[in-house]
Amino acid sequence: MRKPLVAGNWKMNGSLESNRKLLEALVSGLNTQAEVLVCPPAVYAHSVLEQLAGTAVKVGLQNVSDKTSGAFTGEISPLMVKDLGIEYVIIGHSERRAIYGETDEQVAAKFCALVDAGIAPILCVGETLEERQAGDTMKVVAAQVEAVLRTAGPERLANFVIAYEPVWAIGTGLTATPEQAQEVHAAIRTLLAEHDEAMAAKTRILYGGSMKAANAVELIALPDVDGGLVGGASLVAEEFQAICHAAG
Ligand code: PGA
Repeated sequence: MRKPLVAGNWKMNGSLESNRKLLEALVSGLNTQAEVLVCPPAVYAHSVLEQLAGTAVKVGLQNVSDKTSGAFTGEISPLMVKDLGIEYVIIGHSERRAIYGETDEQVAAKFCALVDAGIAPILCVGETLEERQAGDTMKVVAAQVEAVLRTAGPERLANFVIAYEPVWAIGTGLTATPEQAQEVHAAIRTLLAEHDEAMAAKTRILYGGSMKAANAVELIALPDVDGGLVGGASLVAEEFQAICHAAG
């Protein structure tokens, strides 16, 4: 059985004060069997880790370098992330791909660097509205997943998460219908199974894109949806808590 994972992607939001209040409200009354993760901006990772010590809520990050150390101004090494005790890092988010020009190759390099450092990547994939309308959804998503599987090789595929995030649903209030989400999630799992059936059966595939309390129950109930990657709603304690409760 795959344990549901609900991950909050705070993006570039928050302050010491607002983070403290958000986490205080989130932790109080949180009662779920799901694994719960918050991904603050890296600069706040340490204070968030301190506040969450002794709770069931884990801390992840939103991006990482594919290099381990050296003259890479402004970058954060997977080894530093590991040093903090962090278990998960989001990579290949559509905002990184679209705004900062990250390629499939760079995302694959980050995937390998994380796994080699003992951290589980949360690999984001998803199609734009134009790609969906052109009937290319699976072609795009498969290419994004394949680029990583090919580069990583079988030995690096023991512990990772995929987040299917249709770009047209991110931050727009539009959510994939349950049918749309299940169709792509199942296709991703089939693709994984072509590489390794046991890996496909245990790898969690999260849905992301305007997930909120009101739609989380039916999305997470889908057979191939194993939780959520939540942006906007993760900044509202009651909403995020409700999504966690919907997950188990
Ligand atoms: P959203 O963002 O929930 O605000 O749509 C999701 C994401 O970008 O991970």
